[in-house]
Amino acid sequence: MAYETLIIEHEEPVLIVRLNRPDALNALNNKLLEELSMIMEDADKNDSIRVIILTGSKKAFAAGADIKEMMAKGFVDMFHNNFFSNHLDRIQSTRKPIIAAVAGYALGGGCELAMRCDFILAADNAKFGQPEINLGVMAGFGGTQLLSKFVGKAKSMEMHLTGRHMDAEEAERAGLVSRIVPADDLIKEATATALKIAEKSMLSCLAIKESINRSFELGLTEGTLFERRLFNALFSTEDKKEGMSAFIEKRTPKFKDK
Ligand code: CAA
Repeated sequence: MAYETLIIEHEEPVLIVRLNRPDALNALNNKLLEELSMIMEDADKNDSIRVIILTGSKKAFAAGADIKEMMAKGFVDMFHNNFFSNHLDRIQSTRKPIIAAVAGYALGGGCELAMRCDFILAADNAKFGQPEINLGVMAGFGGTQLLSKFVGKAKSMEMHLTGRHMDAEEAERAGLVSRIVPADDLIKEATATALKIAEKSMLSCLAIKESINRSFELGLTEGTLFERRLFNALFSTEDKKEGMSAFIEKRTPKFKDK
């Protein structure tokens, strides 16, 4: 299928989804979010895809929601049509691991989209921010909630209230990104990381993703119980037998997702 706002590269087992609205620094309009939610849904169903990389250009991952599209909209358009929300919910519910490979600007909805991925690998030129306050609004893709969980109240509050940008080094120190790599190596590094994940049992990957995401919703006792039940469940899989046998036999495991 041809996409208007995305460039897709599928080299099994990794799917690279590149946001592609260069004239608008990949601003997230309704079409882009619709296409993104469709590709994520398809990727979840496609057994030849094990990990997804979401990226943009060297200048911008995404400079936010599309201000020109939002300009004409009022409360009723946004609220009644549940603008953005359906697509974002579908993207968020993707079960396979998604790496956000961020170079350049990840602002507003762009920062929020990256935070909705499973982790962020940042190029050394990445810049994160929630500048919606400069437009007389506030974050609307979950930024007040997500950024606060990643970097804590003080930095999140400052970022949202001032609209300032955070560079890659500050983002790494604050826990927003997992790692910084040179901008020219971003896709190479993201792909190497994706391939490492792709070697594992998909059953473990899905369970780990569910369990870590639950940690943001549940208290410690409930969250730990949820983790333990998934851990117990993995003892019923062939991949558990294979993984432990391979360790004892000093060989590389061959997982079958069974
Ligand atoms: N929406 C629509 N168009 C955008 C855009 C956006 N979020 N960000 C950039 N563009 C467009 C510009 O209008 C410009 O288009 P034209 O050439 O037609 O004028 C083009 O992309 C290039 O942008 P600049 O000329 O501004 O590039 P720059 O290098 O000088 O500045 C920038 C880069 C600092 C990222 C600046 O473009 C900027 O501040 N963008 C807006 C960032 C922003 O406010 N994001 C939050 C959006 S609201 C939101 O996201 C709400 C939410 O939480 C859901």
